[in-house]
Amino acid sequence: MDVIGAIKARRSINFFETGKELPDEKLRELLELANLAPSSMNLQPWEVLVVRTPERKKALRKCAFDQPKTEEASAVLILIANPGAIEENIDRVLDSWQKLGFIKPEGRGTYIGMVKTLYDSGESLKRKFFAVKNTSLYAMSIMIAAQGLGLETHPMDGFNEDAIKKEFHIPAEKIIPMLIAVGYLRRGITLLPRAFRRNSSEFVKFEDYS
Ligand SMILES: Cc1cc2nc3c(=O)[nH]c(=O)nc-3n(C[C@H](O)[C@H](O)[C@H](O)COP(=O)(O)O)c2cc1C
Repeated sequence: MDVIGAIKARRSINFFETGKELPDEKLRELLELANLAPSSMNLQPWEVLVVRTPERKKALRKCAFDQPKTEEASAVLILIANPGAIEENIDRVLDSWQKLGFIKPEGRGTYIGMVKTLYDSGESLKRKFFAVKNTSLYAMSIMIAAQGLGLETHPMDGFNEDAIKKEFHIPAEKIIPMLIAVGYLRRGITLLPRAFRRNSSEFVKFEDYS
């Protein structure tokens, strides 16, 4: 499936084939494809917790307003945004850029200064936005790549973040932008047509906002 086909075919699926496993290889391929998503300064502030066993999916459902898809999908991905990714990844990013010739050794300091200016400290709102926006791009890449691999998805923010953190032992300073259910459309289900989209002319402006 080409990318335009994948964008057109993607829907948020409410009816997953229950009990159908997502093979390790396919899951790995999905996550590797999504890992090619762009990120600010290539800092990749995303993490994923894969929930696949019936017991853990049941526990997740309790934290997600009892949404059946959390239990019925083959897997649910807990997307985690890490505001601390700057400190964790900056050296590797700069090493790679230097090695590949994107920057010279003396250019490293400029990038470190830029990151500090742009994203402030670990606790700041700017830093949280950084982590969430980039993790959301990763999430969208998961959903498009899934289509290409013959999988269906459903993003969710109907969940209690604190409850998920407690149940799944996710550190308090991390953020959960969304869950993504991944699996296969249940046999015999015909989707309703895609719902209303605004016409782009309503929200696209050129050259000036006013
Ligand atoms: C970040 C995000 C969170 C969402 N959370 C939920 C959710 O908790 N439960 C749900 O049923 N749908 C959820 N949705 C799905 C939307 O309702 C759906 O994307 C929208 O109605 C458009 O439908 P489509 O994805 O099939 O085009 C969410 C979508 C996004 C992008």
